[in-house]
Amino acid sequence: MAAERAHGPIGVFDSGFGGLNILAALRDLLPSEDLVYFGDSARSPYGSRPADEVVRFSLEIGRWLVDEAGSKLVVVGCNTASAVALDALRAELAVPVIGVVGAGARAARRCVGSGRVGVIGTERTIASGAYQRALADDAGVAVACPGLVEFVEAGQTTGPAVRAVIADRLAPVVDAGVEVLLLGCTHYPYLAREIQAVVGEQVTLVSPAEEAAFEVAQRLGADGLARSGAVGSLRVACSGDPVVFREIGGRLFPGELGAIEQVPVEALECRRTRSA
Ligand code: DGL
Repeated sequence: MAAERAHGPIGVFDSGFGGLNILAALRDLLPSEDLVYFGDSARSPYGSRPADEVVRFSLEIGRWLVDEAGSKLVVVGCNTASAVALDALRAELAVPVIGVVGAGARAARRCVGSGRVGVIGTERTIASGAYQRALADDAGVAVACPGLVEFVEAGQTTGPAVRAVIADRLAPVVDAGVEVLLLGCTHYPYLAREIQAVVGEQVTLVSPAEEAAFEVAQRLGADGLARSGAVGSLRVACSGDPVVFREIGGRLFPGELGAIEQVPVEALECRRTRSA
């Protein structure tokens, strides 16, 4: 059974483009694995949506990744979806599910000394309290940063306008004097230069992507699902316009995305079951 399942790809999903940073980390760490990425670009952003809606969308995509794409493991690359939908996904899907919240909190806790870990994320991620719970005793200030995702998707990752908004949103982080700042949103690593300039060099910035990829590697090894040998394939699908996905995703992903498939929202909604 494990040998059969080991042939499947690793499925990764995000509300849109941001999870491409986790896809890149997986490709670098696990070059022999086939990867399938789903970006829900027609319904992005998730960060200001109600939790039950994010759970519903996540379940639809999880089912697509497992039933249609044959994934042997699912990575929830979206912080918002990890924060609110991880338990539902684990209850529903018959494959291991790994989220970025646990990975990010673990990486941040490893970096912190006597100080605290601040976390920034979308409104829904911060309101869920998921990072704060995962950081436990190390948790410091937690701040929602609306507006930053839009800058990244517009290709604006540096400059005075971006820095002014970051300085405004991160004022409570600066006031709290955290030792480590966890970038709890897929898009924030693209703004790391400006975030670092605002919080100061003494603050260590941590992003969950690499740690999540290590967790995947460990889990595949433990379950006998790892592949070795030839370079794996990449399949990319999105719910929105594939031309727009290529345009924005191509800027964020260091490599060739290949042909981008469109899976319309209606095709995902067909995958609803009694639990959604
Ligand atoms: N991918 C989302 C996250 O990491 C950010 C974009 C959105 O709000 O959908 O929380």
